Amino acid sequence: MTEVYNIESLSQGAAAIEHAAEALRAGRLVAFPTETVYGLGANALDSAAVARIFAAKGRPANNPLIVHVNSTAAARELTAEWPATAELLAARFWPGPLTLVLRKHSSVPDITTAGADTVAVRAPAHPVALALIGAAKIPVAAPSANRSCEVSPTTAEHVRKSLADRVDVVLNGGPTSGGLESTVLDLSVNPPRLLRPGMIAPSVLENVIGTISRPQLDRDDGSKPLASPGTSARHYAPRAPMELRVPSDSSRLEQLVATGAKIGWLALARPTIDSPALVLIQMPTDPIAFAARLYAALHELDGAGVGRIIVDMPPDDEAWLAVRDRLRRGAAPGERGT
Ligand code: TXA
Ligand code: MG
Repeated sequence: MTEVYNIESLSQGAAAIEHAAEALRAGRLVAFPTETVYGLGANALDSAAVARIFAAKGRPANNPLIVHVNSTAAARELTAEWPATAELLAARFWPGPLTLVLRKHSSVPDITTAGADTVAVRAPAHPVALALIGAAKIPVAAPSANRSCEVSPTTAEHVRKSLADRVDVVLNGGPTSGGLESTVLDLSVNPPRLLRPGMIAPSVLENVIGTISRPQLDRDDGSKPLASPGTSARHYAPRAPMELRVPSDSSRLEQLVATGAKIGWLALARPTIDSPALVLIQMPTDPIAFAARLYAALHELDGAGVGRIIVDMPPDDEAWLAVRDRLRRGAAPGERGT
C-alpha cells in the first residue's frame, strides 16, 4: 500500500517528510513535488533502490536518471570535475529547473547513469523537495513519477493514477508551478550542449557562460526533437494520438469533428467550431502559463476518453522552445518514451 501525505506547510508536514526521508534511506521509493513535475525518488547511491525506479516506471535501462541535491556542495561530491561553467550556472539558477551533466564521481553507481561516465545533477526549487533531500542526507535519483508510456505528473493525483502501488510514499505538495521538465545542459563537452530544452532558455544560459551548441534548434522546422540518451521521439505522449495544427487552419479539425468521434482540442486560437463531440480546453497564450497547464490538460483529455487530441502549435520563438519540443515529442509516431 502506498502511503500518501498532504504537505500543506513545511512545519505541519515535518513528520511526514522525516518519515519519507527514512523510507528513502531504507531503499524505498518516494514521489515528491518539484517546481517542474513530480519526481519518483530513490537513494541515488544505492543500486538496488535505483533498480526499483526502473522497474516501477518500466523505464529502459539505457535512460539515465537526474540526481537531485540541495546544494552546490552536494552536487560537486557526485562529480569528478566541477568546471567554472558549472559554478556560474549553479550560482545563478539553483535551486531551479536546470540540470547539469558532468563527469561522474566513482561513488555514483552505473545503474543511476545508465552506464555513462557522466552524471546529471540538479537542485530543485521546491520547499518540499529540498526539505526531503535535506532530511534524507543522501542524493536522490528521480525521473518524472509516471509509467514510461505516460505524460509527466504535475499533481500527486497524476502520480497515483500512473504508478498506483508501485510507489511506497507520495508527498502531496499540490500542483507543480512550472509544468515542464528541467532544461538539461551537458557541460562534459566543449562547447556545452543543450540536451533538452526547458523553461530556462538557451540564450539565458549563454548570457552566463557564452556559446552553447543547440543541436537542431537553429533549424526548428518542427519535425525533430532533441537527442538525449535513451529518449525516444515519442515522449511525453498522452494515450490518445496527438496531432499538431497551425492554428489558422481549421480543415483537419472540421474533418475530424464530422466523423462524430470524441476529439480533444488544446486551443490557442479562438474556437471557430462547436460540436458536442469536441472537448475544448482553451490554453493560455503566455508560454509560461501554457507550460504550467499543458500536462494537466493532456491528463484531463485522456480522462475524458477522447480518441484523438488536436493541439494548436504555438509560434516558433525561443519563449516557446520547450513547449514546442514536448508537443513534437507527444505527437511523434512510433514507440513511446519515458
Ligand atoms: O524537471 C525534471 O528534470 C524532472 C524532475 C523530477 O526533476 N525530472 C525528469 O527526469 O524529467 P527524466 O528522467 O524524465 O528525464 C531525465 C533526462 C532524460 O532526458 C535523460 O536522458 C537526461 O535527463 N539525462 C540524465 N542523465 C544524463 C546523462 N548522464 N547524460 C545525458 N543526459 C542525461
Ligand atoms: Mg520523464
